[in-house]
Amino acid sequence: MADYLWWKHGVIYQIYPRSFQDSNGDGIGDLQGVIERLDYLNDGTEQSLGIDAIWFSPTFPSPMADFGYDVSDYEDVHPDFGDLATMDRLIAEAHKRGIRVILDFVPNHSSSQHPWFLESRSSQESSRRDWYIWRDAKPEGSPPNNWIAAFGGPAWEWDQPTQQYYLHSFLKEQPDLNWRNPQVEERMHEVLRFWMRRGVDGFRIDVMDRVVKDPELRDNPPQTNPRYRALAQTAMQVHQYDQNWPDIIDVVRGIRKVVDEFPERMTVGEVGGPPEQIVKYYGTDGHDGLHLAFNFPFVRVRQRHWTAEHMRRVVDAFEGALTPGAWPNHVFGNHDVGRFVSRVNDDGRGQERARVAALLLLTLRGTPFIYYGEEIGMEDGDVPEELLQDPARFFAPGRDPERTPMQWTRSGDFTSGTPWLPYSNLRCNVADEMQDPKSLLALYRRLIWFRRGSNALRFGEYKPLDNLPPSVFAYTRTDGDERLLTVLNFANEHVRFALPDGIRIVEMVIGTHGELPTAEEIPLAGNEGRLLRLS
Ligand code: GLC
Ligand code: CA
Repeated sequence: MADYLWWKHGVIYQIYPRSFQDSNGDGIGDLQGVIERLDYLNDGTEQSLGIDAIWFSPTFPSPMADFGYDVSDYEDVHPDFGDLATMDRLIAEAHKRGIRVILDFVPNHSSSQHPWFLESRSSQESSRRDWYIWRDAKPEGSPPNNWIAAFGGPAWEWDQPTQQYYLHSFLKEQPDLNWRNPQVEERMHEVLRFWMRRGVDGFRIDVMDRVVKDPELRDNPPQTNPRYRALAQTAMQVHQYDQNWPDIIDVVRGIRKVVDEFPERMTVGEVGGPPEQIVKYYGTDGHDGLHLAFNFPFVRVRQRHWTAEHMRRVVDAFEGALTPGAWPNHVFGNHDVGRFVSRVNDDGRGQERARVAALLLLTLRGTPFIYYGEEIGMEDGDVPEELLQDPARFFAPGRDPERTPMQWTRSGDFTSGTPWLPYSNLRCNVADEMQDPKSLLALYRRLIWFRRGSNALRFGEYKPLDNLPPSVFAYTRTDGDERLLTVLNFANEHVRFALPDGIRIVEMVIGTHGELPTAEEIPLAGNEGRLLRLS
């Protein structure tokens, strides 16, 4: 198992293309901008972050009703971001640096402006009618069932000219494709091949868990979801018939077969549900399903969850549910949730906690995902009402705060023009943190480069330790003679404890609080973490 496999052992970095680097002054990030910043991500030296792959949120032509998650051409590049030639250059420049490229595949729905939908919509007799999900109204005129769209309101939109409803699990500008139609499946497989032939290394798959639904389109249960807490109306419904439908796995297997036509490609899917549900998407022992399915609970962590017990439970639940060939992953943030630092900052200690989170993310077993800016401790932007952009504002203030431009210097330097969203707190920026050996960025760089050379961290056994103080989560990572121990204190107060018998520390490798002396008894300050080498 010592072979290096990039999507298992490497670090994946998510870029929201509108927000990473603008190259032409229009205030919108673009692919040329990313090319210019690739050396920051990995120039082969420990001066750079050292990541192994980039996942780009959608880069395709789109009316931007949902900022690219409404695709109007799956095989091109949005002019705001560049063109196919820029994408080809980006792929080549990334590969030159050992960075793989993952695109966002959006199979559940297209844009309502996609030529397929325009044709489908043109008449009930259209040859593409069945490429989407059209149904008659109920006798009294109401939608075919009670499904609620993820962004609120009914999941059905009435089409007056052709006198039927179409299904949209998200915005009405995002009609659901009908994957039960073999022509749709075949055409979407071609999309995957199109990009893999251009050198794309993998796909993040959007809402994989909704791609097919109950063929009878039955009503979801009338009762309110007992686990309902979110402000989003959709979470009120138990999605029995429109999410995680059992034969989705056949669609997943079909996608996997196509991806396996090309060497060393990968998929990572966005799926919801408890661990036992999520791991089903890996197929049989990870061989015929998704390569990875996002393990999301850290993305929902708020300050009240910041306990050793909760964090260990999340890790162990996923580890425990995985079948032997399936591989874990960990993620603290993405373009749909508030920035980690801001979620755990009720008492102003968010930045401290970000250091502990970095140590956790990069020393656990499983592929780490980093959302751009997480490595400098970027906070939620304070976007004034009139500048808010996210149309899917199913919870206030929508998802703009976590999508603000990358902060390269104290003045931002994301664009020479006016950024499409204002910067967040510019105290966190690449230039300052590059100079400061105590910065979060320095910690990320050290962890990533250490991990690269450590078999124990990349694929060693994971074993949590028991009988520790309640605020401490500690685990060993072992491969042959290489034995490492991570200890993390989730409390704000100091804690001191003796290590279990048989554990002998040789040295401190990396710590959130700097290089402290090593001792048999570990004193940990509040929100402190250490990576230690054992004999
Ligand atoms: C996923 C994306 C989100 C998008 C939605 C609809 O949840 O992460 O940003 O709005 O799908 O495509
Ligand atoms: Ca631009």
